[in-house]
Amino acid sequence: MKISTTSLRSKIFLSMIGLVFLASVMILVVTVSQYKEEAEEYHKKRLLRKETAVKVHINSILENTSYEVKTDKLKYIFKSNGSTRGLSSISELSRIHKMPINIYDLRGNLIISSLWRLDQKFDSIRHLPPGIIKKIDQNRNKRYVIKHEGKEGEYQSSYSYIYDRQFKPIAVLNLPYLADSTFYKKELQEFLKNLASIYLFMFILAIFVSYLLSRYITKSLNTINNILRQTSFDKKQQKIHIKNPNDEINELVDSYNKMVDELNESAEKLAQNEREQAWRNMARQVAHEIKNPLTPMRLNIQSFQMMFDPNDPNIKQKFDEFAQMLIEQIDLMSQIASAFSDFAKMPQARLQENDLVETIESALKLYNPEQVRFVSSKEKIFFNFDKNQIQRVIVNLVKNALQSVPDTRIPDILVSIRETDDKIYITVTDNGSGIAKEYAGRIFEPKFTTKNSGMGLGLAIVKKIIENHNGKIYFNSEPEVGTTFIIEFKK
Ligand SMILES: Nc1ncnc2c1ncn2[C@@H]1O[C@H](COP(=O)(O)OP(=O)(O)O)[C@@H](O)[C@H]1O
Ligand SMILES: [Mg+2]
Repeated sequence: MKISTTSLRSKIFLSMIGLVFLASVMILVVTVSQYKEEAEEYHKKRLLRKETAVKVHINSILENTSYEVKTDKLKYIFKSNGSTRGLSSISELSRIHKMPINIYDLRGNLIISSLWRLDQKFDSIRHLPPGIIKKIDQNRNKRYVIKHEGKEGEYQSSYSYIYDRQFKPIAVLNLPYLADSTFYKKELQEFLKNLASIYLFMFILAIFVSYLLSRYITKSLNTINNILRQTSFDKKQQKIHIKNPNDEINELVDSYNKMVDELNESAEKLAQNEREQAWRNMARQVAHEIKNPLTPMRLNIQSFQMMFDPNDPNIKQKFDEFAQMLIEQIDLMSQIASAFSDFAKMPQARLQENDLVETIESALKLYNPEQVRFVSSKEKIFFNFDKNQIQRVIVNLVKNALQSVPDTRIPDILVSIRETDDKIYITVTDNGSGIAKEYAGRIFEPKFTTKNSGMGLGLAIVKKIIENHNGKIYFNSEPEVGTTFIIEFKK
């Protein structure tokens, strides 16, 4: 799961938890290092305290000794004499101060050690580590501490001078010290345990809070999302209304709503433009169609005028022919005009309960029943439709059907009605030449025709009427076999 592709909700959730986690890790690191520093400081100070005490003790022994205070006498001064341990013996000193004590001469050789008697094999302490005396000299307090990690913990080993009565260095005192940090470690563990329980609580709290927070934020976003999903460009855009959105989301919603307003406005303008365009096209088409017969009419009148001879014995017959031709052309023009006006002012369907069987039968009375047959699955089928418009549909379809039959065949047109539980089907089947594939998608377009004298408005009108009745129209066609137009109404 990549963070960039997760939802806003889980991003909020994860970053909250991440923050709490980061904070706890940081506190852990800081605390542990703080504890370490503190423990180190404590041991440093403790070693210094012990060193001071040992030195005070040694100085008092040197002041009271009967030996001369010189480097080579030190081993006698601090030596245990036989079985009775002298109070000044180095092992007694070590016992009192609870730490090992080594004394070296200024060349770095061990003079005497409290560890000596315990284990003769202490080769590692026989000589001072190289360069120690120089380092003591360089230090302002004339002491030097070496640290190293051992098995039991950290060792600190301090080196400083032992002076004679004239304050002249005569030897080097070495105090090895094991920094015992068990106490600090215990305390740290205790603290960390408390910290862990607090952070566990914080963790649970963070999960809870971030859950609520992310839900609060994403709830409004989800609402917007749902509305946007429902939005499509073919219907009127919905505005978004959200209860209690926060400021940013409010802004988003506002700008979306503004956009919806503009979109609706421009959709309105577009629709109006389209309507105007359609009307313009229609007007141009009407003008064109009416002009077509005007030119031959004009030519005919002109030639009749030129050749008019009142003395011609056949003038009556010629005039009749001429008038007949004019009337035909005028009829054609009026046909064209009424076809266009039919299409243009398609009235709203006046739906009334009617008998579909009777309606279609009466429309088919115009035709030869031998060529146009009619069958119905029932004697009467009542439902709501506009009688005039449905008759117009049937007439248009039957006219097309008859026109599709080539002259070499006898027309055989079948109009049928079939009623099912929830639908009514009207079909018009012919034995015509069929509809070519390349025209199939266009035949319902206004002005589409393959006929010389056709207006191409018939099927456009049919489709519009069927749609006004909430129905569907489609067709099946096989070239040279025939075509079936199917109308489907929901009851
Ligand atoms: N029953 C049919 N058989 C074959 N072609 C048809 C049939 N009905 C319609 N058409 C095709 O659809 C076209 C459009 O028909 P229509 O809109 O009624 O206009 P018009 O009849 O004036 O041509 C016709 O020109 C014809 O090519
Ligand atoms: Mg037609």
